Amino acid sequence: MPIYFCIREITSAGTLPLRHALLRPHLTPATCVYPGDTDATTIHLGGFVGESLCGIVTLYREALPDRPGVGCRFRALAIVEALRGQGHGLALLEAVEQLAREAGADYLWANARVPVLDFYRKAGYAVGDEEFIVEGVGPHRIVVRNFS
Ligand SMILES: CC(C)(COP(=O)(O)OP(=O)(O)OC[C@H]1O[C@@H](n2cnc3c(N)ncnc32)[C@H](O)[C@@H]1OP(=O)(O)O)[C@@H](O)C(=O)NCCC(=O)NCCS
Repeated sequence: MPIYFCIREITSAGTLPLRHALLRPHLTPATCVYPGDTDATTIHLGGFVGESLCGIVTLYREALPDRPGVGCRFRALAIVEALRGQGHGLALLEAVEQLAREAGADYLWANARVPVLDFYRKAGYAVGDEEFIVEGVGPHRIVVRNFS
């Protein structure tokens, strides 16, 4: 039987178990709550197989400093390990891109982990030159997709 990955909106609290397990297992659950998580304009998406939450991503109305135009940011994109490599991460990314476009964004950006930069390159993101450390998490670079 085919496995269907269904994407729908979830709550801020609903993202926390996977954020912790997949992105910050060595840190406290409290570090998985991000500024803006409960803003009215923030959207949390979950990817489900049946009733099981298997992927997450969150979209914020947050521009890049010093960049003109309307910007949106995404954070905490992750897929459970057993379901990686099947297009589900890209599906969640495309879902937040669609929401960002609908919100009038000129571009979408994120602080991306260095080991997965090629995932973003393949998805059409430009990767910034500067590498920086997010404390307790590791090296990152900014990735940006322009919509105009
Ligand atoms: C990054 C992540 C979300 C990708 O999700 P995924 O479902 O495995 O990715 P997809 O199957 O949609 O991959 C889409 C394409 O990117 C490629 N890709 C995926 N992960 C990659 C990686 N780490 N490096 C290079 N290419 C990658 C796939 O091979 C695929 O390419 P193809 O279309 O040529 O076959 C997932 O690996 C993950 O959750 N990682 C741990 C958490 C994490 O690091 N999140 C990102 C925080 S910035």
